[in-house]
Amino acid sequence: MNASEPLIAGPHQGLAYTELLARLSRAAAVQRYLEVGVAQGEVFGRIACRHAVGVDPEFTLKTNVAANKAKVSLFQVMSDTFFEHLNLRRDIGGRIDLAFLDGMHLFEFLLRDFMNTEAICRRDSIIAMHDCLPLAEPMVERDPMRAEERSLGTPHQGWWTGDVWKVVAILTKYRPDLDVMLVDAAPTGLVIVTGLDPASPVLKRRYPAIVEEFSAIPNDRAGIGRMYAEHRITPAEEALRRLSGRSYTHGRAGVLKRLLG
Ligand SMILES: C[S@@+](CC[C@H](N)C(=O)[O-])C[C@H]1O[C@@H](n2cnc3c(N)ncnc32)[C@H](O)[C@@H]1O
Repeated sequence: MNASEPLIAGPHQGLAYTELLARLSRAAAVQRYLEVGVAQGEVFGRIACRHAVGVDPEFTLKTNVAANKAKVSLFQVMSDTFFEHLNLRRDIGGRIDLAFLDGMHLFEFLLRDFMNTEAICRRDSIIAMHDCLPLAEPMVERDPMRAEERSLGTPHQGWWTGDVWKVVAILTKYRPDLDVMLVDAAPTGLVIVTGLDPASPVLKRRYPAIVEEFSAIPNDRAGIGRMYAEHRITPAEEALRRLSGRSYTHGRAGVLKRLLG
């Protein structure tokens, strides 16, 4: 091991994030799914739902992304462009039940993806964010090339989470109304947010000031260590159990399912 890899946390011991999301989509009977940052479609292909929506400026699909779905819509644009031009009814048919945000790994991008996604969710929807629980310092570099250089010869060679961990601190400070769960999904964690408020103006109104404030906060192990110290880490299986009671089947079948428990 390269001695110059300062570790921040031990490896996350829970289910792989791919497995957790795939199981969640079935357990919560998700109807409409959004993934920002699809790449090869490893997660997307495993999601079960009625309609899945993918956004990526450069799809590199290697899986059958239509598996387990009735309908798939792919938008080959940056997420900002997608949200800017989105007509909810016309383009994707309605609000999102489950979203997975895994696009650009810089905190100001993920913050925008979060606030834009929340606005097209319902109060009982789920937003999962990837890579917010980094393990070692090199992977949090904002520049992916620098992360690559610093991780050479370490057990995490080539890993890049960027500084999206800051979004946890931002939501904790500015959106205490949200339920933010840090989950030990391997390899770099999932942050799962519920108790959404699609009409909340807080993040949009304060976005420039928040970005300025959090750009000045060092992207280092002290800050990340504080995040770990201030939050409980929820085991992946427990997270799955807590979220599985939901059902997004809103038709007659869904009403029956809810009535019958
Ligand atoms: C880590 S990969 C996604 C992996 C995928 N979610 C999975 O787990 O199978 C990140 C993807 O984000 C995409 N990306 C980068 N910038 C983006 C942006 N501004 N909007 C949407 N996607 C973006 C990249 O093209 C890349 O395919």
